[in-house]
Amino acid sequence: MSTVYGDQRLIFPATQRNRIPIGDELAEQLPSTGLILEIASGSGEHGVTFQKRFPKLTWQCSDPDPDHCRSIGSWIRHEQLMPKMPAALQLDVRDSDWLEQLKMPAQAVVAINLLHISAWECTVALLRQSAQLLQAGGKLCVYGPFCVDGQHVSESNRSFDTSLQERNPAWGVRDQSTVLQEAADAGFTLGNIRLMPANNRMITWIR
Ligand SMILES: C[S@@+](CC[C@H](N)C(=O)[O-])C[C@H]1O[C@@H](n2cnc3c(N)ncnc32)[C@H](O)[C@@H]1O
Repeated sequence: MSTVYGDQRLIFPATQRNRIPIGDELAEQLPSTGLILEIASGSGEHGVTFQKRFPKLTWQCSDPDPDHCRSIGSWIRHEQLMPKMPAALQLDVRDSDWLEQLKMPAQAVVAINLLHISAWECTVALLRQSAQLLQAGGKLCVYGPFCVDGQHVSESNRSFDTSLQERNPAWGVRDQSTVLQEAADAGFTLGNIRLMPANNRMITWIR
């Protein structure tokens, strides 16, 4: 993560590489109009990219980190996306008041690279709170690395997992089956699992 612009915009280099394939998959999954709540927006680079790519949607970024929220605001100003794109919500996925913070229902929830860089309780909260927020037919799209049946799908994912757990023992690449079961328990139907570049996946559920 770095900032080079002399303002509060942060740069997350991976977003340069993955914004197009993620956007291509979102183009297939998201409705053409409505409000999309992005959880864990990070720098905001994905948010402004997708707001510009899907102009009929309203892209609502959120993140618990105040520096990230300031970065999102700087990116929105830089891309001149006000007033279409709302200010970021300072929202932790474990907060129990998503709807009150959002003030209106969302048609979809998107979370990119959150599950492995947060405690398991955040995955549970994402699934349960999204199920409460979304109405029937609403989508939840989750992107990141996953294990399959307890096995890493690549050596790079294995070493990434080790490095995550060294940084924080509560972090780590999640097992797809465990997440699918938790999602089903929360009330979601699996839409599809798309294999993405660099051994990532996009899993889409339907409420
Ligand atoms: C690896 S970054 C991913 C950011 C962005 N989605 C991307 O792909 O560039 C993980 C993000 O998760 C956020 N995060 C961590 N714990 C969270 C929580 N409990 N609720 C919501 N977001 C959280 C962090 O603040 C950070 O912005």
